[in-house]
Amino acid sequence: MMACNSNVPKSNEGNLQINQVPANVDSEMTVLMREMYYNFEIIKDSIVAGKTVDRILFNDVRRTHWASPTDSTIMGPAFEGMTVDFLDKVDSLLLEEVNKEMYFNLTVQACLNCHQEFCPGPMGKITKLLIKPKR
Ligand code: HEC
Repeated sequence: MMACNSNVPKSNEGNLQINQVPANVDSEMTVLMREMYYNFEIIKDSIVAGKTVDRILFNDVRRTHWASPTDSTIMGPAFEGMTVDFLDKVDSLLLEEVNKEMYFNLTVQACLNCHQEFCPGPMGKITKLLIKPKR
């Protein structure tokens, strides 16, 4: 497991009682993030190939505002600020006609900025989304 929910206690593993709910059910935020990661891989491939980006791939990004995370204590002004910044970058990318690579990378950087504060686990994986400069 590489998420930030690694602080879920493991001590009960192996002796779950009947009717006891396992502690490791994926949060709404986790499911959203996996989908965003998957969609951003497709967005990246389209941009690199010079193809039109399918806007449907951005449909769920705004749910970052309200999807419930594993650890609800992270929700607050700092998290909200990171969300607003991320969505601003998405909006700029959607408007950009020429330098899509740069605006895509700024958006991924906004993913990383939030992760730096709230969920460093997947940063290596997210970094791989960045489009490398052409030589
Ligand atoms: C405003 C903060 C924020 C932004 C922006 C953000 N994330 Fe996340 N991300 C989180 C948090 C918090 C979690 C942990 C979710 C949980 O445990 O409920 C997470 C989890 C993840 C995970 C792990 C999912 C798993 O399988 O456990 C991936 C991958 C991920 N994010 C990718 C991204 C990508 C790609 C972007 C940008 C397109 C992004 N994130 C933008 C806060 C953010």
